[in-house]
Amino acid sequence: MADPKDVENDITVLPDGLHVIAVGEETLLKALGRAGLRYRVGCKRGGCGVCKLHLLAGEVRYERPVADSVLTDDERVELHRLLTEALEKRGAS
Ligand code: FES
Repeated sequence: MADPKDVENDITVLPDGLHVIAVGEETLLKALGRAGLRYRVGCKRGGCGVCKLHLLAGEVRYERPVADSVLTDDERVELHRLLTEALEKRGAS
């Protein structure tokens, strides 16, 4: 099994289809920033929802708990996720 710090996770950013690689436990936000992309963020801790995005495929996990007020029940069911706290496990869009 690969060392988690060496795993590369492919991120596809729509609508342009831009591909960004997140390395190891790098967050989506950090990977996007390293690729030269800017993204609107607020608290960077899962408390405000400013960085909310729509996950079309893949899985994410969070470094810290996300505030209940940030995601509605529907968003949780539909896999709306926060960018700042998300660590991609495999191909998210
Ligand atoms: S910036 Fe506040 S939840 Fe992402």
